Amino acid sequence: MPHLFDPLTIRETTFKNRAWVSPMCMYSSVNGLIGEFHHAHLGAFTTGGAGLVFVEATGVVSEGRISIGCPGLWTNEQAEAFAPIIKLAHENGVKMGIQLAHAGRKGGTTSPGLSDHLMATPEEGGFQIVGPSQLAFEGYAVPRELTTAEIKQLVKDWADAASRAVKVGFDVVEIHAAHGYLLHQFYSSLSNHRTDEYGGSFENRTRFLQEVVVAVRHAIPEGMPLFVRISASDWTDGGWTIEDSIQLVPILKQLGADLIDTSSGGNVHNAKIAVGPGYQVHFAEAIKGHTGVTTSAVGMITDPAQADEIISSGKADAIMMAREFLRNPRWPLMAADVLGVEVEWPRQLSRGKPAK
Ligand SMILES: Cc1cc2nc3c(=O)[nH]c(=O)nc-3n(C[C@H](O)[C@H](O)[C@H](O)COP(=O)(O)O)c2cc1C
Repeated sequence: MPHLFDPLTIRETTFKNRAWVSPMCMYSSVNGLIGEFHHAHLGAFTTGGAGLVFVEATGVVSEGRISIGCPGLWTNEQAEAFAPIIKLAHENGVKMGIQLAHAGRKGGTTSPGLSDHLMATPEEGGFQIVGPSQLAFEGYAVPRELTTAEIKQLVKDWADAASRAVKVGFDVVEIHAAHGYLLHQFYSSLSNHRTDEYGGSFENRTRFLQEVVVAVRHAIPEGMPLFVRISASDWTDGGWTIEDSIQLVPILKQLGADLIDTSSGGNVHNAKIAVGPGYQVHFAEAIKGHTGVTTSAVGMITDPAQADEIISSGKADAIMMAREFLRNPRWPLMAADVLGVEVEWPRQLSRGKPAK
């Protein structure tokens, strides 16, 4: 079995190790455009030894942003703003991924920490939110139900955003279909009460996600990995289950998805989630075990030995970490030392390498 610092090849892309930076919203973009903060924030990860660094949830359309401070990829200018960060990552042998998202009924908020109210007003740049059905997420505005024509247009928007990501040099595209955002809202019957071909049966509820996977796969090169982040469970009676995920994943794989980034929850505010160290690893393990599809595990993974054990025991193929990377952006350099693995440090940082 491989270890945390062994390379992983998916299609024609080789990641130098399996310690990856999970997407994290930073609520610091203006009109969907990233700026100086992102250069410092993502720059620290690109010199920190991770095999892959993900950019946060990035709206495929303006109304798809989680908050008015979230980045977008609906213009070429937005895409080109990532070029210097991607260049720095590549100089350090690090791959860059972007998570393409639509927030649906959980969109249109103010930036956390900058406002005393949740939904952004039109004067602040807020917008009408949309969803599969007119069902609000607790505390959010009531979404407008998307028409069939609008769904079909969004599939194209996802593909266009993916094309921009390819053009600017991203190595991986991830479709965000987790955490109660639009695609998850469709596949979970808790949020989808439609009666057309996008609601009702399992096949209908997963149709939108399947169409996005097909469209994005066609928009990116054959050799480029395509990831899908799913919520493996709604942790709620009557909601999406791990059994549903095990049914869905081989379909996504057959349509061109390469890795299932296995998260959970986010679609209802009162889900009973059993949170603790590595609390979602068993979902990644179940998906990998039942389907044979490559997975990454995420959620309260913080310790080098813990991360290495998840890989070496075959529970998942890669680790995604979020909050630990906020505390220590160069976690992999330290983790390699703890695990006794020799890794190359960026030339500029080499004097910080622990003495043997
Ligand atoms: C500040 C912050 C922002 C996040 N933004 C995103 C996001 O944009 N997309 C996403 O899929 N998950 C997002 N997440 C969830 C993380 O990617 C990760 O799945 C979660 O925090 C659990 O991992 P951790 O215990 O290592 O933090 C965010 C988490 C944090 C802490």
